[in-house]
Amino acid sequence: MSPHLFLPLVMMVVSPIPGTFQDSGKVALVQAAVSSTQGEFEDVDCGRPEPSSRIVGGSDAHPGTWPWQVSLHHGGGHICGGSLIAPSWVLSAAHCFVTNGTLEPAEEWSVLLGVHSQDGPMDGAHLRSVAAILVPDNYSRVELGADVALLRLGSPARLSPSVRPVCLPRASHRFAHGTACWATGWGDVQEADPLPLPWVLQEVELRLLGEAACQCLYSRPGPFNLTFQLLPGMLCAGYPEGRRDTCQGDSGGPLVCEDGGRWFQAGITSFGFGCGRRNRPGVFTAVAPYESWIREHVMESEPGPAFPSQIQKPQSGPWEPREENCTFAQPECGKASRPGLWPWEVQVMVPGFRPCYGALVSDSWVLAPASCFVDACAERYPIQQPRTSDSPPRDLEAWRVLLPSRPEDRVARFVPHENASKDSASDLALLQLRTRVNLTAALSAVCLPHPEHFFLPGSRCRLARWGRGEPAPGSSAQLEAQLMNSWWCHCLYGRQGASVPPPGEPPHLLCPAYLEEEEAGRCWKDSVWSLLCREEGTWFMAGYRTLSNGCLRPRAFSPLQTHGPWISHVTQGAYLEDQLTWDWGPEGEETEEQICPPHTEHGACGLRPKATPAGVLWPWLTEVHVTGNRVCTGILVAPGWVLAATHCILRLGSTTVPYIEVYLGRAGASSLPQGHQVSRSVISIRLPRHLGLRPPLVLLELNSRVEPSPSALPICLQPGGVPPGASCWVLGWKDPQDRVPVATAVSILTPRLCHCLYQGILTPGTFCVLYTEGQEDKCEVTSAPPLLCQTEGGPWVLMGLAVRGSQELFAAIGPEAAWISQTVGEAHFLLPSGFPYWPPEDSDLCPQDLAGAASSPEVAALLLLPLALLIQG
Ligand SMILES: *[C@@H]1O[C@H](CO)[C@@H](O)[C@H](O)[C@H]1NC(C)=O
Ligand SMILES: *[C@@H]1O[C@H](CO)[C@@H](O)[C@H](O)[C@H]1NC(C)=O
Ligand SMILES: *[C@@H]1O[C@H](CO)[C@@H](O)[C@H](O)[C@H]1NC(C)=O
Ligand SMILES: *[C@@H]1O[C@H](CO)[C@@H](O)[C@H](O)[C@H]1NC(C)=O
Ligand SMILES: *[C@@H]1O[C@H](CO)[C@@H](O)[C@H](O)[C@H]1NC(C)=O
Ligand SMILES: *[C@@H]1O[C@H](CO)[C@@H](O)[C@H](O)[C@H]1NC(C)=O
Repeated sequence: MSPHLFLPLVMMVVSPIPGTFQDSGKVALVQAAVSSTQGEFEDVDCGRPEPSSRIVGGSDAHPGTWPWQVSLHHGGGHICGGSLIAPSWVLSAAHCFVTNGTLEPAEEWSVLLGVHSQDGPMDGAHLRSVAAILVPDNYSRVELGADVALLRLGSPARLSPSVRPVCLPRASHRFAHGTACWATGWGDVQEADPLPLPWVLQEVELRLLGEAACQCLYSRPGPFNLTFQLLPGMLCAGYPEGRRDTCQGDSGGPLVCEDGGRWFQAGITSFGFGCGRRNRPGVFTAVAPYESWIREHVMESEPGPAFPSQIQKPQSGPWEPREENCTFAQPECGKASRPGLWPWEVQVMVPGFRPCYGALVSDSWVLAPASCFVDACAERYPIQQPRTSDSPPRDLEAWRVLLPSRPEDRVARFVPHENASKDSASDLALLQLRTRVNLTAALSAVCLPHPEHFFLPGSRCRLARWGRGEPAPGSSAQLEAQLMNSWWCHCLYGRQGASVPPPGEPPHLLCPAYLEEEEAGRCWKDSVWSLLCREEGTWFMAGYRTLSNGCLRPRAFSPLQTHGPWISHVTQGAYLEDQLTWDWGPEGEETEEQICPPHTEHGACGLRPKATPAGVLWPWLTEVHVTGNRVCTGILVAPGWVLAATHCILRLGSTTVPYIEVYLGRAGASSLPQGHQVSRSVISIRLPRHLGLRPPLVLLELNSRVEPSPSALPICLQPGGVPPGASCWVLGWKDPQDRVPVATAVSILTPRLCHCLYQGILTPGTFCVLYTEGQEDKCEVTSAPPLLCQTEGGPWVLMGLAVRGSQELFAAIGPEAAWISQTVGEAHFLLPSGFPYWPPEDSDLCPQDLAGAASSPEVAALLLLPLALLIQG
């Protein structure tokens, strides 16, 4: 991911340039017409364009303003810029020509001189082959400096008003901090947004930043907590607030500053962290330190480059900030005086509909769901926007936009996302206002995330109105939310076996828990919100809710970060900001690939969220409180059902039906915040029909459903067999008072071994286990703890519940599977897998010394090995 941030400004996409300069025949023709000017070294005029008349945030240059600007072509398209420094020499950047440590062959490159629009008439322009490319010996990677290259042309350029060399600074030349200079090029006009046709050379005014001022900005962490140490020979130009910068495709081009009526090339466009970002000015190779390197290589040429002396010596340069006196540009968006009072909240009124809520994202653009504007009958957008027409289509005339503290506004353009109707994660539209607004404290734009902006689990967020959702159930100040872990979110909603995007990849979903909904146990089913997350006091629109998944929690939001390029492309300058807070550095980026465990037709089961500071959450573990202060273990098997051991719930001899309450989301004595706890009462107790026998398992029906959430998620059930390669655990309380859950590792013994060890006392359908870590970790038994298994990366599966009075024997789920699935339609049964556990009764005799050895761990331990093999085989 960091390579996305750290961008050598070479053009990544080769656009074929239409025109007449691509075939070598014509090159030869042009080359024949060269007349070499003989002149004295210092007499060659430089840096003086004929008097006359992008680059990010730039504008079209006038033809002939920058006659030294050249375009370097490779494979038929513009790749980098360069500057003519002498009739046979071009200066550019090393990284344009070095791929993976290898210098590309000179003959694959050509130089286009005297060109203004690369798609227009090319009169005066001509092409030259490249005879040699020279790069300093110590150039290795762009961020390590020495990013400079010299190109010797196959034949001298034809000098003319549109083809002239630039002046080079001497090593002693000092460009003062704050000097206004110009960068030029045909590069992208925004990150990932190429220069539109007709590819007219762009110019932008950039101010030189002193080393300390630039280092001060780059010392402030960017996304992924990245900082950058400038090296000698680098030079920065731009603005702390960003917006004007060089970008992909400008590499190798010149940064020129005027001195005494001549233009000197101060820098070579080298790299940036994104383009035009706040506190991330462009980095250039300083040309002055390379005086002797350039002279040495172009010595033999006649005429060579000119190094006129400096006329305006900077006296004392403008003030330079030092480390302790370094101010960063603050975001210009996302400031709200208090949460809930959103100065970007916009209502779009379309006649005949309820208002549609959106957000102001710049001084003239509103972002809102596209679905607000679908003509329900025609199932199409009312507007088929003619891009050529200046007047808005008639339908838009009737639309009104209400902004905070402003009279009604009109809509000039409506741009739905191209995939809005196909894909709910793209349900977005941009509406351009007829008049730009003046941004103030009461009316301002929300910040939007860049594509690599990550909102971290645990972020504090707010819900804001969005689209035509139901009005807020509470007061807007209460609509707090907190982002959940992405693995949990992804696997709850994702497909079985899907891989979970690692932290450095854009998430597919954002899952916030709405605190108020959780605490009050409500289900805001029809709520539609946008999700605002705050970083360092600045609000970002992180996502918007598109999916309706009933009451499944946490809610899923579509992340807005992936739409950054589309929004910035359409709006040409809506706010987009760098991430302001981080919790991982580049070293934390390598994480193992995670795969979502199996789901059942009823959704995810057996997922366990990461431990919280308050304790370990077992979302299916239920405290079952029975009349008379008895507490049994129960397991949530579906949103309205808990499975428990009969002997713990119904006492022998008692004739009264007990009153039972269940509690979920408890992590022991250090209880979780209120919001995570759920309680329900039991309205019916269901037992299977067992001829004459007391059945081991009981199902408890709850008075209302417990919606899936990180503190209440059903377990998976396995109809038979032990999952292959599973680790198994007994989950219970060591102390019935504290009830802090502990999981103790066990091995499940084979049925034959089990039968032999417990001769005579074993009822059919019973698992026996061996504790692998000794007796001291065993749970107390009166509460009937469950036996669980988990395969690596798989969900947790319930195998059985402890048989009365035993730590080693568990009543299995398998034999009761039919009854459970008939009673509880939503029970999460996985497909049968693994070794069939219950073999037909066989008459194998038990070795004599085994009979009754169950209580002897030594004997049992001897038997463990063949057994484990059997289970895993
Ligand atoms: C770069 O070079 C290394 C080592 O020579 C090689 O393993 C790698 O595949 C190369 N990468 C590319 C993109 O050519
Ligand atoms: C490369 O070598 C030159 C001359 O020896 C030196 O001035 C410059 O700092 C070096 N640059 C890097 C990036 O090592
Ligand atoms: C920072 O620099 C400004 C401008 O020179 C100066 O007025 C201010 O006192 C300095 N602040 C600190 C903390 O040094
Ligand atoms: C729309 O969907 C197509 C196909 O999935 C994709 O290639 C394209 O980039 C999407 N458009 C935008 C603006 O994201
Ligand atoms: C915005 O401010 C400018 C001057 O700052 C003023 O001329 C203009 O009328 C204002 N526009 C609106 C819509 O308030
Ligand atoms: C950012 O990185 C620095 C060291 O590079 C480290 O000290 C700091 O803790 C990191 N910050 C965060 C929030 O990860």
